Amino acid sequence: MIKPYYKDKWVTIYNGDCREILPELEVTDVIITDPIWPNTTIKLAGSERPYSLFREFCSRIPKTTKRLIIQLGCDSDPRFLRTIPSWLPYLRSCSLEYTIPSYKGNVLNTGDFAFVFGQAPQWQKDRQLMPGICRSNYVEKLFQKHNFTHHIHERRAPAAKEVIDSLPHPCTRRLQHLYWLVHFFSDIQVVDPFMGSGTTLIAAKYLNRKAIGIEIEEKYCGLAVKRLSQEVFDLGL
Ligand SMILES: C[S@@+](CC[C@H](N)C(=O)[O-])C[C@H]1O[C@@H](n2cnc3c(N)ncnc32)[C@H](O)[C@@H]1O
Repeated sequence: MIKPYYKDKWVTIYNGDCREILPELEVTDVIITDPIWPNTTIKLAGSERPYSLFREFCSRIPKTTKRLIIQLGCDSDPRFLRTIPSWLPYLRSCSLEYTIPSYKGNVLNTGDFAFVFGQAPQWQKDRQLMPGICRSNYVEKLFQKHNFTHHIHERRAPAAKEVIDSLPHPCTRRLQHLYWLVHFFSDIQVVDPFMGSGTTLIAAKYLNRKAIGIEIEEKYCGLAVKRLSQEVFDLGL
């Protein structure tokens, strides 16, 4: 078994290829991940062949996985997901808005989508109503500033005291969105095989889930450990 790059009571990080490490892990609950997108323009490991990377990842998902959540851009082709095994049936999709509507060329951009596969989560008192759209507090303010009147129920998430756009990873996701996905779709454990800067693990740790991350680039493992050690959360903005 491969040695972890980092381990504490809640979090384990492996530096390596998820196609080799994932089959070795005991996945008892949920995989939440943001793989290399099919329409990526960013240079990252695997960005020259996202389809085969994702297909090979899918073929190595442990059968004990209850749920799989894949984050893609709203302009990413969801047919990318067709190699997800049939024992993880489609459950639902969630819109993860992080920008006011704006055009990327001729395509309207509003943020990302999370596609959920596998077993439905168990009923729990504080997660009866699953919001269809998840906006961060920051985005909600932008909507107000620009006089968008369409307000949607959402669970407020803690805002980390960090400016993600200044992090040295090119595609760090919104912590608020990961907080929401972890809260609604996991119970005890979250595994992120394309961990990047560790956003999923930070949300999982905050919500008292055991978290495992796998990342092929050592520099991003170091970044995730640094972010996890800061542990500064603020329940407001
Ligand atoms: C889209 S980024 C994930 C960003 C992450 N959600 C965050 O908030 O920082 C995908 C990551 O997967 C990593 N990666 C690519 N191929 C991999 C592989 N075979 N195994 C593990 N990680 C891989 C890349 O280095 C990159 O950091």
